[in-house]
Amino acid sequence: MNIFISPNDLEAVVEADRAHVWHHLVQHAPWVGPEAKGDPRIIVEGKGLRVWDQHGKEHIDAVAGGVWTVNVGYGRESIADAVREQILKMNFFGGTAGSIPGARFAEKLMSKMPGMTRVYYANSGSEANEKAFKMVRQIAHKRYGGKKHKILYRDRDYHGSTLATMSAGGQDERNAQYGPFAPGFIRVPHCLEYRKHEQEGAPDQHYGEWAADQIEEVILREGPDTVGALCLEPVTAGGGVITPPEGYWPRVQEICRKYDILLHIDEVVCGMGRTGTWFGYQNYDVQPDIVTMAKGVASGYAAISCCVTTEKVFELFSDDASDPLNYFRDISTFGGCTAGPAAALENMRILEDEELLQNTLDMGARMMGNLNALMDKHAVAGDARGKGLFCGLELVTDRDTKEPVPEKLVGAVVGECNAQGVIIGATNRSVPGKNNTLCFSPPLIATADDIDAITDAVDNALGKVFG
Ligand SMILES: Cc1ncc(COP(=O)(O)O)c(C=O)c1O
Repeated sequence: MNIFISPNDLEAVVEADRAHVWHHLVQHAPWVGPEAKGDPRIIVEGKGLRVWDQHGKEHIDAVAGGVWTVNVGYGRESIADAVREQILKMNFFGGTAGSIPGARFAEKLMSKMPGMTRVYYANSGSEANEKAFKMVRQIAHKRYGGKKHKILYRDRDYHGSTLATMSAGGQDERNAQYGPFAPGFIRVPHCLEYRKHEQEGAPDQHYGEWAADQIEEVILREGPDTVGALCLEPVTAGGGVITPPEGYWPRVQEICRKYDILLHIDEVVCGMGRTGTWFGYQNYDVQPDIVTMAKGVASGYAAISCCVTTEKVFELFSDDASDPLNYFRDISTFGGCTAGPAAALENMRILEDEELLQNTLDMGARMMGNLNALMDKHAVAGDARGKGLFCGLELVTDRDTKEPVPEKLVGAVVGECNAQGVIIGATNRSVPGKNNTLCFSPPLIATADDIDAITDAVDNALGKVFG
């Protein structure tokens, strides 16, 4: 194998990839080994909301880099310039010290998050969540003799790929074969109203309050004095694009306050505009204690994640003469990379100057309208859900029984869209038997024509796969 590959020699790049790169979250058999039929996909270039593969084929990217990340779109020179300038001046210093972009981004970010005051920098969503879990554990030790250490997480939610975040993972297929997991993580039921018929005792009316009350039941069962935090996605992403039912969040907040439980909201997907507000929780009038974010923070131009807290949480780690260990004894080497906050600052400027939150609301409404029209046309489209440019279409074989369409056929719809030059997503290998939701989360710069092109491709694909 030639290790000196010209970046323009794409055939050699494909072969180097086939031979040496271990891709994320996929089986390699389609391009490696005796069953191989094709080549790995290499994404070569991106501009706006379009990307080009190694064959020069153009695609509309309806999933913002595959995983809800590239919120401001591809090819942003101003972000590249900001990063270049910053890393030439000062690229890295360990996070015991501050940096100019780190301080400036923190101030800007806090201006969008009333009630929150402190940012802890790291470099992936999983890592930011780990920081939050460690804070909760340390608070339990410091204030409650270690007893209030349990962390509640929800069925179908996802918080990352590390072992602790998988211990808080509500997607059993993601977790299968990776146990045993860390103790002290306790599952609460999901709040997907469309599937409430599968939840014993779920009422016809006021489902949101009922679903939140299920969390209280778990707290009472475990003992409120053992529960330190509740970690939730504002809108569940990979678990099926689950928008919270009416009445859910206010009750959740009430329950957390009642039992002195920290509310940790995982904004890794919803953060930075995806739902049409800066953060997903801001749609639901809720005040968290800890917020984690990653993907859209710098739209994938640099690796950055943040664990944000209130001053009240921060003060729990203040100097204490009786306890020399009472500060957050944690570090993230790459949390000291200045490229992250430099890119994040410029990313935020773009979101503001181009009024992308408003565009997200407008285009999100258009997408929901189009998805509802697909429901009128295709019986297999069982439920359209979404908030801003974060939408899902759940596919069922029968609208009465709501039997999920097999994952293979969902994959066929994704494949048909891809053949038409539109990359869409689908829940995959997450909730056993329930990987049946198509996912749409284009960059927030999408135009009406882009949205229509995406849903037209889905229309054709549904027609082809299901007749
Ligand atoms: C809600 C949520 N939290 C956390 C993560 C983990 O982020 P990362 O892959 O950056 O570790 C993800 C990733 O998809 C996510 O969707």
